[in-house]
Amino acid sequence: MASQLRFDGRVVLVTGAGGGLGRAYALAFAERGASVVVNDLGGDMKGVGKSSLAADKVVEEIRSRGGKAVASYDSVEAGEKIVKTALDAFGRIDVVVNNAGILRDRSFGRLSDEDWDIIHRVHLRGSFLVTRAAWDHMKKQKFGRIIMTSSASGIYGNFGQANYSAAKLGLLGLSNTLAIEGKKNNIHCNTIAPQAGSRLTQTIFPEDIVEALKPDYVAPLVLWLCHESCEENGSLFEVGAGWIGKLRWERTLGALVRQRNQPMTPEAVKANWKKICDFGSVSNPQTIQESTGGIVGLLSKMDSNGGVSTNHTSHAASTATSGFVGAIGQKLPSFSSTYTELEAIMYALGVGASIKEPKDMKFIYEGSSDFSCLPTFGVITAQKSVLGELAQIPGLSLDFAKVLHGEQYLELYKPLPRTGKLKCEGVVADVLDKGSGAVILLDVYSYSGNELLCYNQFSLFLVGSGGFGGKRTSDKMKVAVAVPNRPPDAVLTDTTSLNQAALYRLSGDWNPLHIDPNFSSLAGFDKPILHGLCTFGFSARHVLQQFADHDVSRFKAIKARFAKPVYPGQTLQTEMWKEGNRIHFQTKIQETGDIVISNAYVDLVPTSDMLAKTPSKGGELQSTLVFEEIGRRLKDIGHQVVKTVNAVFEWHITKGGNTAATWTIDLKNGSGEVYQGPARGSADTTLTLSDEHFMEVVQGKLDPQKAFFSGKLKAKGNIMVSQKLQKILKDYAKL
Ligand code: NAI
Repeated sequence: MASQLRFDGRVVLVTGAGGGLGRAYALAFAERGASVVVNDLGGDMKGVGKSSLAADKVVEEIRSRGGKAVASYDSVEAGEKIVKTALDAFGRIDVVVNNAGILRDRSFGRLSDEDWDIIHRVHLRGSFLVTRAAWDHMKKQKFGRIIMTSSASGIYGNFGQANYSAAKLGLLGLSNTLAIEGKKNNIHCNTIAPQAGSRLTQTIFPEDIVEALKPDYVAPLVLWLCHESCEENGSLFEVGAGWIGKLRWERTLGALVRQRNQPMTPEAVKANWKKICDFGSVSNPQTIQESTGGIVGLLSKMDSNGGVSTNHTSHAASTATSGFVGAIGQKLPSFSSTYTELEAIMYALGVGASIKEPKDMKFIYEGSSDFSCLPTFGVITAQKSVLGELAQIPGLSLDFAKVLHGEQYLELYKPLPRTGKLKCEGVVADVLDKGSGAVILLDVYSYSGNELLCYNQFSLFLVGSGGFGGKRTSDKMKVAVAVPNRPPDAVLTDTTSLNQAALYRLSGDWNPLHIDPNFSSLAGFDKPILHGLCTFGFSARHVLQQFADHDVSRFKAIKARFAKPVYPGQTLQTEMWKEGNRIHFQTKIQETGDIVISNAYVDLVPTSDMLAKTPSKGGELQSTLVFEEIGRRLKDIGHQVVKTVNAVFEWHITKGGNTAATWTIDLKNGSGEVYQGPARGSADTTLTLSDEHFMEVVQGKLDPQKAFFSGKLKAKGNIMVSQKLQKILKDYAKL
C-alpha cells in the first residue's frame, strides 16, 4: 500500500474553515499531522454579522481528536492578521487554502454596487490579501502550496451569479499567474471548482444529492495538491461526489483572415467564420508563450509577396494525430529559390565570415578570384516558406508555437554556384512518434536545372503531438552521432556580435523572436535569441577552416542537433574531433559552458577522391546525369524495386584510368536511394567501369555480361545479384 501522505511539521491556513468545505479540509489536514489555523468570520451566508463560534467549534473538534489547531476570527480582508496568527502560534506558514465565501445572488439588472463589491472583497480581494501576506514567507522557505477556490459558475456562467462568477473566474487568473511567479521557489498554486452540499448549496440541491456531495469527497484533492510531493502547478480541477477532473483550454486552429499590407475586413472574418469556430481540429495552449507564439508563428505563413492562404480547405487541417500517418510521403508544392552574390555574401557575414580572416574573403567579396558560397548556404536556399507550406499538408495541423527546429542535415553534391536559380521539392519523408512529441522529417531537394545540387533534411519537433501510435525511428532519418569520448582535436571560437541576429535574419528568417524584445519575452526568453541555423553556420565555417582549409569543394555533408538557444554577443566555441573524413563537433557557449549544438558532424570529401577527380577536369561525367535520374525515379517506385532487388551497389566510375566518381545505388533499405559516395553500410556488389562504358551499358550498346568478360566492367562481391541491375538500368535510366 502507498504510504500515507503526511503533513507533520507543516502549518496550514484554511479560510472559512468554520463550516462546509473549509471545515472538512481543516479536519483532514490536522488528522495527518498538520498544525491548522481555522479561520472563519462566522457571519451568515450573505456576509452579514460575525461570530467566533464557527471557528472555535472546529478548533475544538481538531483538538479533541489530538490534533493541533488555533482559531482566527478575522475576515479574509485582514489577510496580514490571519497569517500572523499562524506565525505567532506555529512559527511558519506552508499552505494557504483560500476557501471563505459568501453569496449575493441577484439577476444582473438588479445587482447593486454593494452586492458586486462585497462578493469581490471576500472572494477575490480576500484571497489576494491572505495569499500576499503568506507569499514572502513561502518564498524564503522555498516551499508553499496555495489553493484558490473557483466555481462552475465562473467557468460556465450561471443565472443570477454575475458578481460571483466574475470573482470566481478572477481567482483562476490570479492562480495562473501565481503558479508562474512562485514556481522557482517551489510555491505551487492550483484552483478547484468544488461541488459540495453546504449551507451555500442546501437550498439548491435536493437532500439526497447533498448527501452524495459530502465535503469529505473534495478534501482529499486539496490535501494531495498541497502535499510537498505533488508537482501539480497552475491547474484547474472540478471535483465533487468523489469524482475529480482536470480542465484545460482548447482552441480551434483558427483562420488567418488578412493579407500582408491589406486591410483586415469584417467580411473576411465572416467568410472564415466556420473555420474560426471549427473544433474539429484544435490545439491546447498551456502557456501564454504557446498561445501568443502560435500567432507570431503565423507571420511566417505570409510569403514574401504578401499572400496569405485564407482558404485552407477543411481537410487540410484535419485532426493532428491521426493525420500524421497520412502525411507521410506528401509532397510540398515545388518552389523556386533565386540568389545572387548579394545573398551569398549577406549569409556569410551573418554566420561570422570576416575580413579578419584573409581566407574568408572569398565568401564576402564578389571580386575574389575564387568567390564561393559557404556550403551551409544550401540550407537557406531550401528553407524558404517550408513551414508555411508544411502547414498546408493534409493531416499536419501544425501549431507553430509548438514547432521546434530539432535537427538539420545538409548534403551537397557539388559546391553551390555563385548565383543560382534553384527549384526545390519537399516531401514529408516520415513522421515519428517520440512520446512527448512528434518528429516530422522533411526532405527538400534543390535542383539547378536538372542537376541535384543539394539535399536537406529538416527535423521538426512538434511538442505535445506524440502518442499517436507511430513508430519511434525511421530509416529515412539522418542520424545525429555522439561526439568521441576524448578531448577535442581542435577548438575554434568566435564572438558573435550584438547585431548577429539582426544581420542573420536578412538571409530570410524574419521571425521577430530574433530581434524584437517584446516577442522574445512572450516566448519566455530574456532577450531576442540568435537563430539556431546561424550558430550552425558559424560551426560549419569553423570545421571548414580547421580541416579543409576553407575549400568548399571538400564539404560533403553536415548534421547537427539544436540543443539550446544562444544570445547575440555570446562566444561560440566549436569543439572538433577528426575521425577519418568525418569531423565530429559540438558547439558550446564559452561564457556558460552550455552545449548549443550537439551530436554534430561534417563529412568531408576524402582527399583521395579530390585527387582522383583531377584527371576528369574539363569534362563532366555523363554518368552523373544517369545516377541522378535513377535517384529521382526511385522516389516513386523505390519500395517496389527494393522488394525485388534487395541489394546495395557501389559504383566506381573511372575517367582516364582513375576513379572520378563513386556512387551508391541502395536497393535494399527503406524505399531505395541513390547517392554520391561509397555505401554507408556495406555494399553487396562493387562495380567499376569507365564513364564511357557505363553510358554504353545504359544505352543498351554494351551488354554488361560481355563487358564483364572482356574486362571493361569489374565486379566484386555478389555478382549474381548484379544481374537484377540490368533491368533497372534499362527500365529506369532511359534518358
Ligand atoms: P460555507 O458557507 O459552508 O463555508 C464558507 C465559510 O466561509 C463559512 O463558514 C463562512 O462563515 C466563511 N466566511 C464567509 N465570509 C468570510 C470572510 N470574509 N472571512 C472569513 N470567513 C468567511 O460554503 P462552502 O460551500 O463550504 O463553500 C466554500 C467555498 O467553496 C466558497 O468559496 C464557495 O464559493 C466555494 N464553492 C462551493 C460550492 C459548493 O458546491 N459548496 C460550489 C462552488 C464553489
